[in-house]
Amino acid sequence: MKPYGLKTINHQAFINGHSIVELASTYQTPLYIIDEIGLKKTLTTYQKSFKGQNFQSKIVYASKAFLTPALAKIIDEYDFYMDAVSIGDLYIAKKANFPMEKIVFHGNNKQKEELEFAIKNEVGLIVVDNLVELQNLDMLLNKYHHHQNILIRVNPGIDAHTHKYIQTAQFNSKFGESIYDEEIIKQLMTIIKNSSYLHLQGFHAHIGSQIHELAAFSLEIEKMVNFQTKIMTQYDLALPLLNIGGGFGIKYTTDEKSLTIAKMMKGISQKLDKVLENNKAIKEVMIEPGRSIIGPNGITLYKCSQVKHTYGGKNYLFIDGGMTDNIRPALYGATYECDIASKMDSKKDLLVDVVGKCCESGDIIRQDVMLPMIDENDILIVYATGAYNYSMSSNYNNLLKPAVILVGKDVKIISRREKLEDLMRLF
Ligand code: LLP
Repeated sequence: MKPYGLKTINHQAFINGHSIVELASTYQTPLYIIDEIGLKKTLTTYQKSFKGQNFQSKIVYASKAFLTPALAKIIDEYDFYMDAVSIGDLYIAKKANFPMEKIVFHGNNKQKEELEFAIKNEVGLIVVDNLVELQNLDMLLNKYHHHQNILIRVNPGIDAHTHKYIQTAQFNSKFGESIYDEEIIKQLMTIIKNSSYLHLQGFHAHIGSQIHELAAFSLEIEKMVNFQTKIMTQYDLALPLLNIGGGFGIKYTTDEKSLTIAKMMKGISQKLDKVLENNKAIKEVMIEPGRSIIGPNGITLYKCSQVKHTYGGKNYLFIDGGMTDNIRPALYGATYECDIASKMDSKKDLLVDVVGKCCESGDIIRQDVMLPMIDENDILIVYATGAYNYSMSSNYNNLLKPAVILVGKDVKIISRREKLEDLMRLF
């Protein structure tokens, strides 16, 4: 899926009016590009389409997909909340002056120092993953005499059709406590009832990532609303907030079937309106999209070196990055589409595997793809790399992390390219 701002003029690719080939030459490759105009349009689409009559909507950007201070600033400008899953995320959010009361703090094994950091910095909402964490948090809140709004992460047991590494709510998931485990739920609720500092606002569930079926979310909504309502009655509590997580799928390839954000959000909002029609106790609903906000608005540029023909008859297109800047094909078998920036309308009659420069045979960016004839120094564009590429990048083989530029009317470097000296900073 190409970003909104990508256009072809005279066989050449441009993004928001800037030549891709020139950007590659100015900022060096590999290079991550975020389409600023596309990103802002996506944020607006979310604001316009996730809303209903019977609930107030709150949108949390899942920063694990991609986080830099510049991005946090845009998220704040659009008045989204933001999630964090570690003290590192919290630290970046704070340094970026993101309002800490708009942080939703996640994680299945939050450390004491992370909880203390969250408490001291007045994080708005902590999503407690499990019983032990609830006990630890209660102790810390008592120590600091701090009142804290929380959600409890539960697991509604939904089998979403996605890669098993990114499913999260089956019965044996490591995340959350099962809504079917009555004993644990009772223990959680007893701690909350007896605590002066824990303020339970409601429950949270996240059923997985890269999910295309509205049906999975509809089922989640039914189960979660029923569960939250049951707990309110049983424990005589007001629980006004429900968080149904993120996970809305995007189109990585042209033939992948995916709902647009507008359609998915409309479907979810209608379902919520229906389910909450006779339930005025749940007043606010949170969603937590990450990939669908930043993924389609990112691309990666690489410089092509050579096409190597093997004795067995394969063509390998060598590029100057690879699994260090995009681990997803190796980790999940993810498929990406690509083009040559200066040959956008050329006939594609060369079958290649696009491979990186790491010492791993699995260092593949795209298997079996048709491309035009390659010349040395051609620029390869890989689409839809905005989410979980930069944020999962590594220095394997001591490759330098690429720069990230935000391209709108102007071009801004929002994360500089690593230098050789950076490799020595820990030694
Ligand atoms: N909320 C929670 C609690 C999550 O765990 C996640 C993602 C999200 C929201 C955002 O999900 P999204 O809208 O981005 O799908 N590295 C994997 C994806 C891992 C997702 C982890 N949790 C990948 O590259 O596909």
